Amino acid sequence: MVDTLLNKIKTKEIKIYSKFKKYSVFFNNDLKNIKKNFPKDSIVIADKKVKNHFRKNDKFFYIEGSEKLKSFENLNIIIKKILKLNITKSTTLIAIGGGTVQDACSFISSILFRGIKWIFIPTTLLSQCDSCIGGKTSINFYGIKNQIGNFYPPNEIYINLNFIKNQPKKNLLSGLGEMSHYYFVSSKKDFNFFKKHASKALENNIFSLTNLVYGSLIIKKKYIEKDEFDTGERLILNYGHSFGHAIEKASNYLIPHGIAVANGMKIANYISYKKRFLNLREYISMNKTLNLITSSKDLIKIKPEIMMKALEKDKKNNKKSMRVILTKGIGKMFIFSIDRRKKKVLKNLLINYFKEI
Ligand SMILES: NC(=O)c1ccc[n+]([C@@H]2O[C@H](COP(=O)([O-])OP(=O)(O)OC[C@H]3O[C@@H](n4cnc5c(N)ncnc54)[C@H](O)[C@@H]3O)[C@@H](O)[C@H]2O)c1
Ligand SMILES: [Zn+2]
Repeated sequence: MVDTLLNKIKTKEIKIYSKFKKYSVFFNNDLKNIKKNFPKDSIVIADKKVKNHFRKNDKFFYIEGSEKLKSFENLNIIIKKILKLNITKSTTLIAIGGGTVQDACSFISSILFRGIKWIFIPTTLLSQCDSCIGGKTSINFYGIKNQIGNFYPPNEIYINLNFIKNQPKKNLLSGLGEMSHYYFVSSKKDFNFFKKHASKALENNIFSLTNLVYGSLIIKKKYIEKDEFDTGERLILNYGHSFGHAIEKASNYLIPHGIAVANGMKIANYISYKKRFLNLREYISMNKTLNLITSSKDLIKIKPEIMMKALEKDKKNNKKSMRVILTKGIGKMFIFSIDRRKKKVLKNLLINYFKEI
């Protein structure tokens, strides 16, 4: 589905048909051009790391992208700064940064004067290939991740691949880890497309990166247009995420999200293999690709018992059972329920996985 290379695509625009509004992702590598499209009445909030690209003016300030930034406790500091700039309901907020800048700015845009327009310019691979569409806003509350939020899509998104040219390797790995789950869930053809471009993308090859970002958004678009509020089909996209979130939590958020997700996919594959849902050949092939992103050192400080505690609190669970996403192979992910009374089986599988890596 995503094998049409970007340079063959006439229009470098992806339209998202959300229940709230139609909005677009534009691929544009010319920042000057992007800036021309900024509405006159706007304020810009940008990550300090992309400082060189912008000039400071009255309605502009920098913030530091991090999990701390998107904490509920930090919001009043940002809102105070915004209000000092004398904005009105018709001001547009332009957010420039990674997923954390997006989450903080989108949430604030949704509550300021009961909602102001916002535009997003994602500057990390993860925010370009994934978080920029879907409309979720998420704020951390007293150390607990993504506890508060709503849906508030931006009006426009501009993807400029120049931002990720000199990104730290950790960001690249995290972005590739995050996008890999879309390709694994989608189809064999899309998985092969990912395999073809992943190693080149890790060497900062812009052609491969562009194709992977574009393809990932096309796959995600399909799911969010069917199940925008994450209640049915979109749940499958949690592949790698129950275990990934548990890894993030157990690492005190030191392991970046996408790297945790890639490791989470490997755990889901291991359990699927042990439970005979997945055959050995496919198990090896899936993990070989994930090994481009993960390293045996990633989980050195992670304790399966702590992960298990986090898994028990996963949002997908209900009173009686825990739910994880397992797989019968590429494109064949499914929801697997475990009776809470039998959670020891899952715990033992996790412990064995850690013994084997
Ligand atoms: N809202 C959603 O739908 C959604 C989806 C997925 C993830 N997320 C959230 O996104 C966050 C992760 O996103 P992220 O990885 O972009 O994190 P991030 O915003 O913390 O960025 C990672 C690091 O890269 C730096 N950075 C930003 N742009 C850069 C550039 N061009 N060059 C070099 N460094 C740069 C940042 O300052 C930060 O230190 C998590 O909090 C996660 O929960 C949200
Ligand atoms: Zn994710």
